[in-house]
Amino acid sequence: MSGGKRVAVLVSGGGTNLQALIDARDAGQLDGCDLAAVISSRDDAYALQRADAAGISSFVVPRKDFETNRDMTAALTEQLRYLNIDLVVLAGFMHILTEEIIAAYPNAIINVHPSLIPSFCGAGFYGLHVHESVLASGVKVTGATVHFVNEQPDAGPIILQKAVDVLEGDTPEILQRRVMEQAEWQLLPRAVALFCQDRLRVDGRIVHILED
Ligand code: GAR
Repeated sequence: MSGGKRVAVLVSGGGTNLQALIDARDAGQLDGCDLAAVISSRDDAYALQRADAAGISSFVVPRKDFETNRDMTAALTEQLRYLNIDLVVLAGFMHILTEEIIAAYPNAIINVHPSLIPSFCGAGFYGLHVHESVLASGVKVTGATVHFVNEQPDAGPIILQKAVDVLEGDTPEILQRRVMEQAEWQLLPRAVALFCQDRLRVDGRIVHILED
């Protein structure tokens, strides 16, 4: 679909959350959104093939080409501006962005995180490590969070959350899959749609969801 807010999805790996966005678009659930670009921090990310198959322009801004996260963030921000992007979605993007991009996109960067923030989040908590920590801690409930990105990792205003049970016999891989299926793949497209329809109002730490 074209028209609407121009969305860029930033990825580093498999891209199942990107796929959930593509599937939602194809099912007509992303009114007001134009999935305009996919940008990967790795040239071998499978997410790039998903973008190609869905007819979305893709770009690589390789982390390994930059000395620091700040240098990579500067290059990314330039690319996003060039592409006229309105909303940046971090969908399995495995690097901490520096404040330059937040200044350029205030309350217009959304991240999906595989736990119930403020538990199991912040520096070092990404991908499977999150689920390993959840299992080691003995909690019986985990989940996923979609939130706006601010200057601190995983600490911006929360848009949507969903709880998922931890079950006897779970491995990090099994739990990761359940959290994706039952939470992430539902929450992320919903949050993106709400943003594109101007239905999110941020008031300090609180995100209000406006009626349709
Ligand atoms: C997802 O579980 C996502 O929530 C997580 O990495 C996985 C990426 O999977 N992100 C983080 O941990 C960020 N802190 P995907 O590439 O298949 O979407």
